[in-house]
Amino acid sequence: MSVSAKACSSVVPFDIRPLSDVMGGEVEGFDLSTLSSVCERTDFLSEVCRNGLLVFHDQNLSAQQFGELSRFCGELEFHVLDQYRLEEVPEIYVISNIVENGKSVGNPKDGFGWHTDQSYLHRPTAYTLLHGVETPAEGADTLFASTEEAYGQLDPELKARIDGMKAVHSYVYMRTGNADYMRDNGVKSELTAAQREQVPDVVHPLVRTHPLTGRKSLYLGGDCIVRIEGMEYEESRALLDTLFAAVLAPANQIALKWRPGDVVIWDNRTTMHSATDYDRERYRRLIWRTSVKGEVPT
Ligand code: SIN
Repeated sequence: MSVSAKACSSVVPFDIRPLSDVMGGEVEGFDLSTLSSVCERTDFLSEVCRNGLLVFHDQNLSAQQFGELSRFCGELEFHVLDQYRLEEVPEIYVISNIVENGKSVGNPKDGFGWHTDQSYLHRPTAYTLLHGVETPAEGADTLFASTEEAYGQLDPELKARIDGMKAVHSYVYMRTGNADYMRDNGVKSELTAAQREQVPDVVHPLVRTHPLTGRKSLYLGGDCIVRIEGMEYEESRALLDTLFAAVLAPANQIALKWRPGDVVIWDNRTTMHSATDYDRERYRRLIWRTSVKGEVPT
């Protein structure tokens, strides 16, 4: 695949077609395995930040190529659930319903419920990349919502109220203590003592400023958010519900429909997302995921 000089923008070597008025763009006819030789990293990431998410169709990268593309975007995380890392490229975390020799090749149920990736880390994920190696013909859309738009739409009184507030994010709570999350997602407590130790609870601001654009967005994490610091649980829950409702307003969302071979990259600092289900008896789904380390949210 190649892209003609005429079709190239002055900074990134591909054209972006908007997916909606709120966020997202799609790219056809560009081979991501050539990215590092034709584009500056900062230009590429600026485009991701400007759009919130980009989907590149028809990629079909090998695991090595997907790893290289991800490393081009920054330093990669190794997922705490090491049983789902890809052996040949361990930075790749596998999501899949496929079972081989009696063993799941990836996490069969991940990404359900609205969230921002790895907000439970001190330096949460800045960018996530997914590669749809096998995707169902129907279902399994990934939903996205803009936390930046949502913040912009809050009334000034609410903005002033949440200014300076912080919230506790906890992976251990999500996987072992959050009964709603566990019931809705069929999750059993599967953390070893060593895995728990890697993910102590962290505190992040409820409103964060983007390090590249300087714009503000809500930072809600998802099911790992335990409560707002210094607030009683009920009051904290009510405020969090109001903020979640602002982010998840239907006009603020898009549904990404997968095509096999798609690569999607998004900015976790300005978006939330959620996986949706599909007919697991009928279809196979195999997704590779990498996570690019971000900065401490401020
Ligand atoms: C994720 O939350 O990273 C995965 C989303 C999906 O599988 O659709």
